Amino acid sequence: VSTDSRTEGGKLKRTLLDNASNFLTNFLSGSRIGSMPIAEGAVSDLFGKPLFVSLYDWFIEHGSVYKLAFGPKSFLVVSDPIVARHILRENAFAYDKGVLADILEPIMGKGLIPADLDTWKPRRKAIVPGFHAAFLEAMVKVFGDCSERTVKKLEAMLLTTQDDKTKHVEIDMEAEFSSLALDIIGLCVFNYDFGSVTRESPVIKAVYGTLFEAEHRSTFYIPYWKFPLARWLVPRQRKFHEDLKVINDCLDNLITTAKATRQEDDIEALQGRDYSKVKDASLLRFLVDMKGEDVDDKQLRDDLMTMLIAGHETTAAVLTWAVFMLAQNPDKLVKAQTEVDTILGQRKPTFECVKKLQYIRLIIAEALRLYPQPPLLIRRALKPDTLPGGYKGDKDGYSISQGTDIFISVYNLHRSPYLWDNPHKFEPERFLVPKDNKDIEGWAGFSPYRSQGALYPNEVISDFAFLPFGGGPRKCVGDQFALMESTVGLAMLLQKFDLELKDSPESVQIVTGATIHTKNGLWCKIKRREGL
Ligand code: HEM
Repeated sequence: VSTDSRTEGGKLKRTLLDNASNFLTNFLSGSRIGSMPIAEGAVSDLFGKPLFVSLYDWFIEHGSVYKLAFGPKSFLVVSDPIVARHILRENAFAYDKGVLADILEPIMGKGLIPADLDTWKPRRKAIVPGFHAAFLEAMVKVFGDCSERTVKKLEAMLLTTQDDKTKHVEIDMEAEFSSLALDIIGLCVFNYDFGSVTRESPVIKAVYGTLFEAEHRSTFYIPYWKFPLARWLVPRQRKFHEDLKVINDCLDNLITTAKATRQEDDIEALQGRDYSKVKDASLLRFLVDMKGEDVDDKQLRDDLMTMLIAGHETTAAVLTWAVFMLAQNPDKLVKAQTEVDTILGQRKPTFECVKKLQYIRLIIAEALRLYPQPPLLIRRALKPDTLPGGYKGDKDGYSISQGTDIFISVYNLHRSPYLWDNPHKFEPERFLVPKDNKDIEGWAGFSPYRSQGALYPNEVISDFAFLPFGGGPRKCVGDQFALMESTVGLAMLLQKFDLELKDSPESVQIVTGATIHTKNGLWCKIKRREGL
């Protein structure tokens, strides 16, 4: 076959052989997948409440691996650490992003998230070293400077509009965190100051428009935007393409400027840089200056766009849900403020401070456990595979066929009553307590001692029960960046303000697209802390 496969006829023969073998495996595997529990739903079940909430109810009913059938469409829903570990790490390259790539490709092009494996490998290799320790340390200063703008804005609002009696002001904190995260990602990734905490601009509007469309696409059942004339005929699609052009023009300008001032350096020199003397420490600078890497402008633009989208709403959501939970747990709020007062006093956090702010870090991790962003990871099998047996389901495992669409429900894993004590309770301290595993074969249980010096809880200490950034080769590249950013942002807010929810927690309705967010904002009563 190997010599034959170089000719056209040989290629055809090879394809036919592959197809025949896939068909046979699919056919034979059909009987195994047949024994999988099936949750059957009507399309109407998709409306009314977020999909991930329904998936949780079915998980409790059907077990940790089940098939969700909606008419002719079906998905495998995985809520099992052993099976998640298999798909994400042990056999990662047997899967791609499936439906997710279809949705995101028009926005992110060949950026890391939707990229096919051939594009992904060299780009991942180029981008990961960019998030080195010296870069992260330098970025802590940017996180602090940007958070200070938010703090000053809230202080100004308190001065002008606070209620005389109660001394508080009502603020939608979700909107504030969204602006903060946008400013941070712009400055750190491509040295562009959106300044969105204090103003509106066409680029900011275009970014929100694009995010809005990405969300619409991820929740809309029929991909009508793929029809050839849709981008001209459907007003929201026309607007989407106009928004994309505004952002792309902005990114193209930044890339042209960065390339015009390129100074070739090797990776070690870049990683060892003293960033206190560097004017532009952005990731774009790193990617452009890297010796030997001559990446084309379109790829760079896709990379930047991907990081802009991937790193903005996600981080804003973590801060939003951390505040939502703290507002309902005043004892934990006081504990967090006491830590901030002890470690920071009235200073801005440095990298060293982040290492000491243990309770704030655990709050961020706990917010990510309860509200993972995104709540589902999406995969499609590129070839037939055999999944290990689920802990609540068929012990022998399941054969799946090529093309099987899979949702790994991070939300279910994070709230599984089989893996966590009081899974729905906000308990940041839980990450300090080891949890032996007696019942689940093949799962190593939870142990903070497995962290190998990691600052934040991760998939390793939980053996894939805690997966806020995914796991395996396609794990988030910005995890430490986002965690430190959230730690600094939250610490600086708690340093100055007390907070309460404006209305009851139940009135804060949840909606979801790529992230879990509120329907009408997270309205809080913000008050200056006593004595400040
Ligand atoms: C991938 C979560 C922040 C860039 C991922 C994945 C998750 C995730 C779960 C894996 C997706 C999958 O396996 O399908 C988050 C959360 C964040 C965050 C919760 C904030 C709290 C960031 C930031 C950046 C970033 C700040 C960049 C500056 C990326 C990229 C990928 C990714 C490029 C794709 C990696 C690859 O496929 O090789 N993120 N992320 N993320 N994230 Fe993040």
